[in-house]
Amino acid sequence: MEKSLKTNCIEEGLQMAKTEANLRRAKEEEKRIGGTVAGCPFRTRFHIMPPVGWINDPNGLCQFHGVFHAYFQYSPLSVHGGGGYWGHCTSRDLLHWEYHDPVLTTDIPEDQSGVYSGSALIEDGKMYLFYTGNVKLPGDYDYIDSGRISNQLMVISEDGQEMSQKKKLLGMEDYPEDITAHIRDPKVWKADGRYYMILGARARGYAEDGSRRDKGGVLIYASEDKLKWNLHQKLIPEKAFGYMWECPDLFELDGEKVLSFCPQGLEAEKERFQNIYQSGYSLLSRSSDPEETFTEWDMGFDFYAPQTFRTEDGRRIMIGWAGVPDTEKAHRNLSVANGWQHCLTLPRELSIKDGKIYQKPVKELYALGWKNEQTADSRYHWDGRTVLLEIKEIGGMFQKIKIGQEENGLTIHIEDDLAELSFLAGGAGTAAAGRETCECGGGRRRRIGRVSGKVDELTVLADSSIVEVFVNGGELVFTTRIYLEGRERDLTVSGAGKYSIFTV
Ligand code: FRU
Repeated sequence: MEKSLKTNCIEEGLQMAKTEANLRRAKEEEKRIGGTVAGCPFRTRFHIMPPVGWINDPNGLCQFHGVFHAYFQYSPLSVHGGGGYWGHCTSRDLLHWEYHDPVLTTDIPEDQSGVYSGSALIEDGKMYLFYTGNVKLPGDYDYIDSGRISNQLMVISEDGQEMSQKKKLLGMEDYPEDITAHIRDPKVWKADGRYYMILGARARGYAEDGSRRDKGGVLIYASEDKLKWNLHQKLIPEKAFGYMWECPDLFELDGEKVLSFCPQGLEAEKERFQNIYQSGYSLLSRSSDPEETFTEWDMGFDFYAPQTFRTEDGRRIMIGWAGVPDTEKAHRNLSVANGWQHCLTLPRELSIKDGKIYQKPVKELYALGWKNEQTADSRYHWDGRTVLLEIKEIGGMFQKIKIGQEENGLTIHIEDDLAELSFLAGGAGTAAAGRETCECGGGRRRRIGRVSGKVDELTVLADSSIVEVFVNGGELVFTTRIYLEGRERDLTVSGAGKYSIFTV
């Protein structure tokens, strides 16, 4: 007894020293390049960003004692990622965020290579955070079947900042035989007195000729006490729909059962699946085969790994990462030169109509005190950092919006059921649309989306270096990063519909 207590104390001491060293390193880096980052013209006003370095997935989204908490995959030590931390920020309105010290770092053997994505559960005045501890063993491994260990862990917090000791809930010994070492991103919820945890997974699969053809899927574990978890359900489609699913989320929305997930390995089609990895939802209440109802959340260049949560007033809000993994070869973010990269999307309110999920900016956006900037001509210079454009009564007629300059800008082209975003020189939807891409797109080219009827209304929010386009009340959404200097920030509207421009 005495011996095990002693070992525990030594381990705890080691962990604390590691935590402190990690936090010190993050803070030193924040101090060293914080000024350069803060002075970058591409910093946004209403979007969650890394204080310095790199951000990816939103984690642990919740409202706790009235305050919104957002955690995120954070790499303060490298602008190109690598992880190591859960960053933390809080807000009262989902738009103005205050940044705090990171809450999790890689400080125990079970999470030594990464404190990966996860979620929050609020119960009895406490916050429970669930995440994946990633371990990559040094050596010559494939890191699919060997060399990788994925642990699911939990910490408890009374205030959202100070975390309890880490507790391992599940490890490799607990997963089914056919699951590879890729199993992560726990999203936990409570229903009818039981707890459920959904995990994204890569299952071993084989093609007819015997070669490997892995399959993405999800596993759901159940628990009576949040500590002991048993496999409850395994959803691996018969026919592979991607080789790995990341960041799953399962929730009810207006009576429908929604599975959100990020499949990797889908072949690009003519207009769908244009990014390297996809992110979308399936309506399990309509078909048990997720592929059948799969719809991409966002048709833009920059969207991945979203997570949802319920607000205290009952809204289902989603925040995504305005980025996609492994894109650096295809396009770049011009903020890298100033020591930071990526941001999260605007929080979006979800609802369902006719079997389709609609996404709208949270209502808090409209309480910011926008000023109507109606101009005599159709060109407006937004020298502030944020502009909101609303167009109504388009009726499927031709509409062209330019954000930026003619030779360096983003073109949004609307016609019939189509919406197109293009960084190609010469614009979109015209014979002149060339092969050259505009500087401000960092290499991004063109994306297309379609609504079920005609495009009738448009909401476009440009917050410095991010543009989000909501078509027909959020039936179709596009997110893209854009890198325009202040003096290049023009907005030109030409075509059908009644438009209004607002700034704040
Ligand atoms: C998705 C993801 C998750 C993982 C995290 C690591 O972008 O790969 O599956 O938990 O990022 O940062």
